[in-house]
Amino acid sequence: MKKDISWDKIKSETKSIWAGETDPLPYNTTQPSTVNSVAFSYNNIEEWMAVAKGDKKGHIYGRNTNPTVEILEKKVAILEGADTATAFSSGMAAISNTLFANLKPGDRVIVGKDSYGGTSKIFMEFLPNFNIEVVFCDTTDTELFKKEIKKKCSLLYLETPTNPTLKIQDIQTLSNYAKASNALVVVDNTLSTPINQNPLRLGADVVLHSATKFLCGHSDAIGGIACGNNKIIDRIFHFREINGACLDPSPAYMILRGMKTLALRMKKHNENALELSHWLLGHKNVEKVFYPGISSHDGYNIAKNQMKGYGGVLSFSIKDQSAISNFISNLQFAHAAAHLGSLDTIVGPPKTTSHVENTPKERKKLGIPENLIRCSVGIEHINDIKNDFDQALNKL
Ligand SMILES: Cc1ncc(COP(=O)(O)O)c(C=O)c1O
Repeated sequence: MKKDISWDKIKSETKSIWAGETDPLPYNTTQPSTVNSVAFSYNNIEEWMAVAKGDKKGHIYGRNTNPTVEILEKKVAILEGADTATAFSSGMAAISNTLFANLKPGDRVIVGKDSYGGTSKIFMEFLPNFNIEVVFCDTTDTELFKKEIKKKCSLLYLETPTNPTLKIQDIQTLSNYAKASNALVVVDNTLSTPINQNPLRLGADVVLHSATKFLCGHSDAIGGIACGNNKIIDRIFHFREINGACLDPSPAYMILRGMKTLALRMKKHNENALELSHWLLGHKNVEKVFYPGISSHDGYNIAKNQMKGYGGVLSFSIKDQSAISNFISNLQFAHAAAHLGSLDTIVGPPKTTSHVENTPKERKKLGIPENLIRCSVGIEHINDIKNDFDQALNKL
């Protein structure tokens, strides 16, 4: 296999399959294996030491590195256009490790009001304990971000589109403001995936993923990943190897396997979610549809600029809040579950999904309506999805 590949010239469909997998594999396998060994042994101490010091390629101990995990890291890094990546036991581990590896007492973090519920918990509950100030801005108020960044900003945290209200933040403009203040720009790219959006190309320093979602795509493994340049990722990796939030080789393999169809799946997710959101707009029982691919969406123009597709997640509010439970029970081809990014359609209200960790008061403060239903649109045939939603809505 040829090793010196100029990945910039290669399309996402090909990268999803080949990136990270062009070095010869042990036993001449054509597919990566799950390397379950916790430790790696050497014939002599000198060789062991050379590997430990990084002078020779190899692995020492599974909490630090693992061959299967390393292939996954390379694949995601190449897809994101990053130098390198480091994988975690979950998306939340990727987020918290990135924050704690880069922040110190006295720092000031600027963040949008409605990032994913677990993330907002770190900002609300944990960072303030370490004397780190967290400023929540209205998620789409670019001028307010600019003002707060100018005052003082150590780290700018973006999530776009947001979960569950699908708000759009202008990564390039906000990154430019942050750069002027020497702030680190971190973007959660979970909902977009590297197929639809590459934040590093728009000025971000670190891109985070809950690999549990679209990267894996099959709802059978939990993982997370952080991508960026060598210096930043080395710092995050070092924090991760010490605190131990490593990804096991088995879920790494499952995510790798899922990622082979990432480009193909995202194309279908994008198409289905766009069509379903337009269809929902015309339904009598639907109050409002939140999807960045519809031209009436507040962030449509920014999304059009920075995204190649609008993703597989949409939300919509129904007119009668008390009918949410019935609607969900009426659906035949959708799981009611606290998850997104899978082959199969998944629905749930934010109060039991993305923002289950928050109190009703906190959800109100975060601008999340109680009559909202988040829908991760699967890759089933769109006519079956629409027919299913139609019968479920019409029974209300
Ligand atoms: C946007 C986003 N980021 C991060 C996470 C956390 O990921 P995980 O569940 O893998 O810890 C989630 C989970 O739903 C999410 O939606």
